[in-house]
Amino acid sequence: MQSLLSKIANQSAKIGIIGQGYVGLPLAMVFAKNFTVLGYDVCLGTIECLRAGKSQIQDVGDEQLSQCLGQTYFPISDPEDLDTCDFLIICVPTPLSEDKIPDLSHIKSACTTIKTVLRSGQFVVLESTTYPGTTDEVVVPILEETGLVAGSDFGVAYSPERVDPGNKNFPIDKIPTVVGGINTECTEVAAALYGSVMDQVVPVRDARTAEAVKMVENIFRNVNIALVNELALIFEQMGINTWEVIDAAATKPYGFMPFYPGPGVGGHCIPLDPYYMSYRAKKYGFIPRFIETSGEINEFMKMHVINLAERGLRQVGKRLYGARITIMGLAYKKNINDPRESPAIKIVEELANLGADVQVYDPYVPSLATKAGVFTSAKSVEEALSGAECAVFLVDHDVFRGISMETVKRLAASPVIVDGKNLFAGGDEIVYLGIGKGRSDIDDCNDRHKG
Ligand SMILES: NC(=O)c1ccc[n+]([C@@H]2O[C@H](COP(=O)([O-])OP(=O)(O)OC[C@H]3O[C@@H](n4cnc5c(N)ncnc54)[C@H](O)[C@@H]3O)[C@@H](O)[C@H]2O)c1
Repeated sequence: MQSLLSKIANQSAKIGIIGQGYVGLPLAMVFAKNFTVLGYDVCLGTIECLRAGKSQIQDVGDEQLSQCLGQTYFPISDPEDLDTCDFLIICVPTPLSEDKIPDLSHIKSACTTIKTVLRSGQFVVLESTTYPGTTDEVVVPILEETGLVAGSDFGVAYSPERVDPGNKNFPIDKIPTVVGGINTECTEVAAALYGSVMDQVVPVRDARTAEAVKMVENIFRNVNIALVNELALIFEQMGINTWEVIDAAATKPYGFMPFYPGPGVGGHCIPLDPYYMSYRAKKYGFIPRFIETSGEINEFMKMHVINLAERGLRQVGKRLYGARITIMGLAYKKNINDPRESPAIKIVEELANLGADVQVYDPYVPSLATKAGVFTSAKSVEEALSGAECAVFLVDHDVFRGISMETVKRLAASPVIVDGKNLFAGGDEIVYLGIGKGRSDIDDCNDRHKG
């Protein structure tokens, strides 16, 4: 391990990153500023794109890629090349199965790949999000099948990735990095590695503590979003505007953190990670009620969007069956091109199954695959809204903030808006139904519409 510390200090360490996706590629770019980095991925198409200087990840521009490509960054498709690396960092997906059981197959397969090249003196870091215990109980046993001993022959640590795609205020190297090794020495080496490129490193007691940190962060978000979604459903009935309430509550200078309602949660983390923790808790005899209930509430918000669309159409004398409904926003959050686990998937699927004529638009997402088929995005706001009988806004992309009520009224066949993200304030001659917006707002504007 001492020689690894020297290699970090003199920047001669070679780093292999397994998985070149939303996490692995930005991380590779950060390490490539100081070290030689090999970026390995099982997807040949990804490696070919990277070799051609084309990034598929929004946060890494082609220009940034080309600056280190062939200099300090080398995309590789042959895992044997990883044997020259001192550090091997795993950034592969951790999805859920259909019945919401953690699927560790990518982590296991990455470890099996590493096993073929593992030698004494190397160091393996797991970054994929997973339940506490994975590093000790899944990663280490696979690697020790080589006959080498973890913690003495080779190092092992866990470091949870906290990147927030699309967030320009917090690029990956500005986010404090938590590290926990399987013993004190491993924590020290991992802290030195990340400390050489990241602004701040937070060492914790061990790998399972580091794994638990990530679980806490994402469960905290999931539970708080669910809480505010539940309040939004209540306030809608009470004639109270949730957004106004939260903004006012957020003026309290301590003890409150604002979360906003919406059509559900998406992305690779928040909808999945709580189920990782929940799965693990059950092994210890706990039924985690907060975690599971919050998942159910956030899931229900998608059905609530469909209910609002149906209600809005009814108010203009139309039925959902056969209605032309345009879904505005397919990504799981604003200004990004990632539709994974996006609420749009289920909403589009359900609407199509209910017989609606569904159109979709997202300037960042060219198409959306659902169980009801693949939906191709319209080319422009005009094309998307022309002839729409109900426009459903699911994402607060900055470009959507520029769309006026007048534009919707001018283009749409009937003026019905379902607003999942507080993009509009309601208005005359329009049926406006906003998540978390009070019924009095709705009734006021509907009365005006009737008038
Ligand atoms: N995307 C995020 O915002 C984010 C944020 C924090 C943490 N995470 C976590 O980081 C991990 C990676 O997520 P991601 O968003 O980068 O996923 P991703 O799907 O964008 O990228 C993963 C890459 O790994 C490759 N891969 C899969 N199995 C492999 C294997 N055995 N060997 C080599 N390559 C393999 C895939 O081809 C893919 O290119 C997940 O655990 C995720 O939960 C993601």
